[in-house]
Amino acid sequence: MSTEGLLAMRKIVIAIDGYSACGKSTTAKEVARILGYRYIDSGAMYRAVTLYFLDHLVSFTNPKEIDKALQDIKLTFVVNLKGVTEIFLNGINVEKAIRKMRISENVSQVSTIKVVREAMVALQRKMGKDKGIVMDGRDIGTVVFPEAELKVFLTADLMTRAFRRQKELLEKEDLVEIDTIVENLRSRDLIDSTRKESPLVKATDATEMDTTHVTIEEQVDEVVRMALSKMVVAGKLRG
Ligand code: CDP
Repeated sequence: MSTEGLLAMRKIVIAIDGYSACGKSTTAKEVARILGYRYIDSGAMYRAVTLYFLDHLVSFTNPKEIDKALQDIKLTFVVNLKGVTEIFLNGINVEKAIRKMRISENVSQVSTIKVVREAMVALQRKMGKDKGIVMDGRDIGTVVFPEAELKVFLTADLMTRAFRRQKELLEKEDLVEIDTIVENLRSRDLIDSTRKESPLVKATDATEMDTTHVTIEEQVDEVVRMALSKMVVAGKLRG
């Protein structure tokens, strides 16, 4: 592309939402790498809070304990030598610990807590204020960045998602029965889409992509293509 063309493009916000294990994180990470954008995994933030709550025996129903814990939690994202963003909880890299089943089994419960959501959304907005960001989650296009220039909503059938998640866990040497994973995805889908606070719903202006029969490469290409056209539009609009 010409220098003029590149100059005409502007940084945008890309919101990738959808159900568990649809390939949101893999897609978001790769799109961010290609565009030179920052990648933030909002699910990792809820998972890190859950890890803290479990390790510090914070009751999910005790407002005082929750408030105190939220004050004591410091979340940061650091880009490692491979260019991959990793999450730190109070200075400790918890990227591996937060993907374990014990966290998956509790995270949706923690994510229903209003003050937890308020704290995470405030942090997420702060991270996105300069744009040039790809964020994935459940409420990014609806609540966190309702003005995002590009919103994508990913879906895939339950069994496909379960096998993808099993493979991912195996790569991390965590062998989990397929039935356990199906049950976890099913229960999280239900809690996430029926909770009172910012439930998982497709934003009216989001583009839906069913990833059941699509490879990650195809998924990434499609999102990058959509992003580039939005960047050109944003460039023209902002001069
Ligand atoms: O990777 P996976 O699809 O399993 O989930 P995740 O993105 O790591 O998110 C874990 C959980 O955090 C979800 O099941 C939601 O309960 C919660 N979450 C949320 O409520 N809002 C977000 N923006 C992101 C995650």
